[in-house]
Amino acid sequence: MTKEVTKAIFPVAGMGTRFLPATKSVPKEIMTLVDRPLIQYAIDEARAAGIKEFIFVTSRGKGALEDYFDHAPQLEQELKKKNKNKLLEVLETTNMESGAIAYIRQHKALGLGHAVWCARRLIADEPFAVILPDDVIAAEKPCLQQMVEAYAETGGNMVAAMEVAPEQTSSYGVLDICEETDPLVKVQGMIEKPDAEDAPSNLAVIGRYILSPSVLENLNHIQSGSGGEIQLTDAIARDIELADNVYGYRFRGQRFDCGSKSGFLQATVAFGLARPELRDDLMGYLQSVTQTDV
Ligand code: UTP
Repeated sequence: MTKEVTKAIFPVAGMGTRFLPATKSVPKEIMTLVDRPLIQYAIDEARAAGIKEFIFVTSRGKGALEDYFDHAPQLEQELKKKNKNKLLEVLETTNMESGAIAYIRQHKALGLGHAVWCARRLIADEPFAVILPDDVIAAEKPCLQQMVEAYAETGGNMVAAMEVAPEQTSSYGVLDICEETDPLVKVQGMIEKPDAEDAPSNLAVIGRYILSPSVLENLNHIQSGSGGEIQLTDAIARDIELADNVYGYRFRGQRFDCGSKSGFLQATVAFGLARPELRDDLMGYLQSVTQTDV
């Protein structure tokens, strides 16, 4: 029987340079899609998957992220006084149980693998999830929940996988596949950011993982790789050599790369159109824009 996955790491220590100057003072994870910050989408997905402990790997300048999860007694009082019950309910979704959140500092941005490694003492000997909040996934059943259900059958390590165009493989970790039983693929190798001609497939890893504690042990020995950073991909790939237990999971849903401006704008439109109270207005505007061909 596989152990239940109850802990998740949210690596949020990156500098978010693609969103400068905004990220000079606002953490990328606090930027909003419609009316909720990216981090709220990630937390909601984790909760739906049964996560109980939320570990943020942060860095200098991420204070707004910590504040976001605090109670706001003054604001709550004001809303109560004015009988704004709907807004109070909205606010409640941001409240976290005492002791459910931990913050760890990554002192230097040495890469995603290093960020995950920074949380090793809080994970100890349990399987854990990793969620990158800038990958936002619209799905009927939340992506991590799909993966947790599949993981109950496979155990080992599981990465969310998605097909990308050949010219995009150099932006992702890419899977070398040996078996396919949709939606699962068995992985025999992983390469970080290969050029199209070196990519073993066009199945890319995106920001959802369920990992075994052995990956943290592997990270103790991983040297910096692609881009001079300590890569999580390399530590997972090491588990293929040691235990042959890595799976890709073709999730059902649409992923938006909210770490890029174009992806963020596309997500804003998609999530806006998904809101009944905004849909007609926004659709009307989009139609007028496409007709006038701005
Ligand atoms: P990105 O590659 O998107 O980097 O990191 P970034 O710094 O957030 O953004 P840009 O490229 O400068 O615009 C992917 C994820 O890994 C985390 C980031 O916070 C993001 O969630 N990360 C990356 C860390 O926590 N630490 C690191 O050293 C690197």
